Amino acid sequence: MDFELGSRVKEHIYDVDPYIPGEMVEGYIKLASNENNYGPSPKVVEALREYADRVNIYPYMNREVREAIAEYCNLSRENITAGNGSDELIELVLKVFRGPVLYFNPTFGEYRICSQILGEKCSYINLEQDFSFPLNRYLKKAEKANILFLCSPNNPTGTVIPLKDIEKILELGKPAVVDEAYFEFYGETSASLLEEHGNLIILRTFSKAFALGGLRIGYAISSPEVAGLLYKVKQPFSVNSFAEVAALAALEDVAFMKKNVEKIKEDREMLYRKLSDRFRVYESDANFILVDSSPMTSQELFNRLYEKKIIVRRLGSFPGFRGEYTRISVGSSEENRKLIQALDRI
Ligand SMILES: Cc1ncc(COP(=O)(O)O)c(C=O)c1O
Repeated sequence: MDFELGSRVKEHIYDVDPYIPGEMVEGYIKLASNENNYGPSPKVVEALREYADRVNIYPYMNREVREAIAEYCNLSRENITAGNGSDELIELVLKVFRGPVLYFNPTFGEYRICSQILGEKCSYINLEQDFSFPLNRYLKKAEKANILFLCSPNNPTGTVIPLKDIEKILELGKPAVVDEAYFEFYGETSASLLEEHGNLIILRTFSKAFALGGLRIGYAISSPEVAGLLYKVKQPFSVNSFAEVAALAALEDVAFMKKNVEKIKEDREMLYRKLSDRFRVYESDANFILVDSSPMTSQELFNRLYEKKIIVRRLGSFPGFRGEYTRISVGSSEENRKLIQALDRI
């Protein structure tokens, strides 16, 4: 029997412009997805090995994981929602709160993609030309939105939003997400605003500083009421037991994470100086650096580095901005040295 797909599909799905992950080739240095190339704590690896023969049991450590995260954040378990990466939490927020959605450009693509998938209207405003945050324009545009997305430090620019600006946005009384995926590389958080602002939802992840990207675990910090709503719409077992075990072990070895974050931050400053000899670069508070390589195109820069077995993220041009952009993650010290050598030969 003929099946006419078109008439059965939700129409807005045809407009979805899906996420494209960073490339990965065995044996290449990958600086394309803002991972932590020092890898997870040995304690995490040991805990995963030990758990391997118990995967017949459904995940059951949600309470423990939330308690451990809460302790790390100096909050209570009721403030924490654990999810399958912060990607899932973005989706849960958009399942709970209706649109229209507001975000800024350029930023992490999932706010737009998830909104499109869920059929929510969304709009954006451009950051300033130096990628700083345009508070007044954002506040104005927010009048017509119901859910607000902010990212600080922002992917892909590495720039941050001042706490006082976030506070002004929270005063609008609309649900406002502050994506702090790169919190550990910056050190400042908007969590102190939660007590006074029940509309604040902070997203964090174990994928970056804790180096658990492959296991998919992130968390939201919110009021207990919002956390309750997020749990209502979440699949019960979306955080698998390996992710739970790894997060618990990682939180028992925060010192390991902090040591590597410090190395990454030192190398970030060194790379910034090196890259600024050649390109226009932006100061970053995350574990990556945005480079404007024009007149060389980002595709050209990508190709030249790819020949030397280094993969970076070519972003091309941003609508409304001049330039040709490439995002380069800060790798391990050895990888960063190789990157510099490669750049010297371009
Ligand atoms: C700003 C931002 N938020 C969220 C994510 C996704 O994180 P997760 O791996 O926890 O889904 C990323 C990943 O690159 C990101 O840059």
